[in-house]
Amino acid sequence: MGRTIVITGASSGIGEALSLRYAGAGARLGLLGRNSERLEQVAAACRRLGADVRTGAIDIRARAEIGAWLRDFDDATPVDLAIANAGVMAGRPPGADLEPSDDGHALVETNVLGVLNTVQPLLPKMIARGRGQIGILGSLAGFVPLPDSPSYCASKSAVLAYGLSLRGLLRPHGIGVSVICPGYISTPMSRQESGWKPREMSPARAAELIDRGLSRNQATIAFPFLMALLSRLGGVLPDHMRRWTIRPFRFTVQNQDGRDLEPGEPPDQQ
Ligand SMILES: NC(=O)c1ccc[n+]([C@@H]2O[C@H](COP(=O)([O-])OP(=O)(O)OC[C@H]3O[C@@H](n4cnc5c(N)ncnc54)[C@H](OP(=O)(O)O)[C@@H]3O)[C@@H](O)[C@H]2O)c1
Repeated sequence: MGRTIVITGASSGIGEALSLRYAGAGARLGLLGRNSERLEQVAAACRRLGADVRTGAIDIRARAEIGAWLRDFDDATPVDLAIANAGVMAGRPPGADLEPSDDGHALVETNVLGVLNTVQPLLPKMIARGRGQIGILGSLAGFVPLPDSPSYCASKSAVLAYGLSLRGLLRPHGIGVSVICPGYISTPMSRQESGWKPREMSPARAAELIDRGLSRNQATIAFPFLMALLSRLGGVLPDHMRRWTIRPFRFTVQNQDGRDLEPGEPPDQQ
């Protein structure tokens, strides 16, 4: 019998590729995102591959709404694997000195609190069942501080620490937790970023590596290998050496609109 899998940020990029990868016959998928049109397109493609799919167009920052949707979904079909993937990028725009402060706040709410909003509602249920698995999207940017995207790097360091802490806490309950740390993946998010992107890979290849790491219950699933090694080394270098080694990786970011939803505004207008 197929597994039940929840994926946030399923309407684009890595989340879309993961949805398609897991959509084999018998899988039950709970797919979340904001843009309902793109989300339904992904859901339709997954159904054609044989999956039973339920979608929710909800802003990941809407804690109560996300929690209610997840608990309801889990009541109907207990979740085997939840992947907290939804995220945004922000940083220093071309010609600017700083990243815009509103974007930094919206990013932390999405990339950090959005992960808690996804994971926390499912944990009591997984603990009661004595099984389950959580995957959290970090980034290689969580290992090495990059001057051009301070909030993004902080958010990915935060979820790395959160995920690895949870892993220790939940192991006695039979629940696996992995933090997924990709390098450059060709998605709409990476297209916001200028600059050199060595070893950039397709979302489908990233989904394959994530699937393999999750099936082994790895603590961190960091790839590609060389970039993961360099990022970890970059994180422990003395400051003056790190400044020098990350010079080729400087970039600017075309920021997304990180504003909050107005009361009653449909999520897919963002
Ligand atoms: N691409 C890379 O190079 C790279 C590298 C390392 C880590 N990552 C991480 O991988 C994850 C996926 O990124 P991606 O590259 O696939 O980006 P993407 O193509 O821009 O997709 C981001 C997804 O997150 C969803 N999302 C963003 N804000 C949301 C919100 N407030 N509420 C609900 N959903 C929201 C988007 O949904 P809507 O579009 O429907 O709003 C979309 O489905 C992120 O956590 C990112 O930080 C990416």
